[in-house]
Amino acid sequence: MKPPILIIGKNGKTGARVNKRLQSLGYETRPVSRSTTPSFDWENPVTWPSVIKGTRSAYVTYQPDLAVPNAEASIKEFVEVATENGLEHIVLLSGRGEDGAQRAEEVLKDSGLSWNIVRCSWFSQNFSETFMLEGILAGELVLPAADTVEPFVDADDIADVAVAVLTEPGHRNRLYELTGPRALTFAQCIKEISEPLGRPVKYTTIPVDDYINALHEQGTPKEVQWLIRELFTVVFDGRNSTVMPGVQAALNRPPTDFKFYVQKTIGTGVWNASVQRHSA
Ligand SMILES: NC(=O)c1ccc[n+]([C@@H]2O[C@H](COP(=O)([O-])OP(=O)(O)OC[C@H]3O[C@@H](n4cnc5c(N)ncnc54)[C@H](OP(=O)(O)O)[C@@H]3O)[C@@H](O)[C@H]2O)c1
Repeated sequence: MKPPILIIGKNGKTGARVNKRLQSLGYETRPVSRSTTPSFDWENPVTWPSVIKGTRSAYVTYQPDLAVPNAEASIKEFVEVATENGLEHIVLLSGRGEDGAQRAEEVLKDSGLSWNIVRCSWFSQNFSETFMLEGILAGELVLPAADTVEPFVDADDIADVAVAVLTEPGHRNRLYELTGPRALTFAQCIKEISEPLGRPVKYTTIPVDDYINALHEQGTPKEVQWLIRELFTVVFDGRNSTVMPGVQAALNRPPTDFKFYVQKTIGTGVWNASVQRHSA
């Protein structure tokens, strides 16, 4: 019997999707995070060996983000522990235009293990499964981003690519840079969500300092404030606006358009404020 495929980030936007796909294809998986038994915590390396032992390949999502200053050191330690405990192939989820992420990628490439890097633009699912959901439900999304365009990528495409590189021959030691097929501003995204949703949602842009001050007043930890500033200034300075062919190259099909993401997400009811209140 084949060893289980390790998934670090069990309930994450991509980890959950990768896990579901692998299981439906008949693969045994070992999905882990801080809340699983055994647990895996990026901040506690003592938890790493026992979840790695007995696996040969892994899908790895780092927390909170490969852009943070200690990510490179964590990934370095992780590949060492992985090597010592028999892991042979690591698929690392990475971000575009982040210096820290690119340094972490180099660590993996130089590790001697088989590797894949799935380097992604911003996920479309940030509008429905994380911090931007609240603004959409409230009828106004406020962010420190003006006219920069971003080719948002669908997390279902990311999961399809991760599963392909984990299970199909011919992908080893390749980096796929994944984006959606169109680059959009946040205002355009909100318009594309609001119209078919049939509910007005406004997009408001504010200076990054005002945004960070508001986070500070809400008690947001300093590291998260740093990350948000990094994402909305450095990473969102236009360097990532280009559409890339990674989904087509890995899957031999085009990436999912933002319009289709919107249609399927409306179908889930997640943007329906009354459904949200009911399930809260
Ligand atoms: N969002 C984007 O637009 C974007 C774009 C490019 C790259 N990325 C990269 O995507 C990665 C995140 O992947 P994702 O979005 O699939 O995951 P995610 O949705 O951010 O994953 C959330 C899960 O991570 C687990 N977690 C939190 N802290 C942890 C820790 N210290 N140790 C272990 N698990 C922890 C939590 O589960 P428990 O509470 O059970 O631990 C939580 O359910 C980041 O490295 C980021 O740089 C994101």
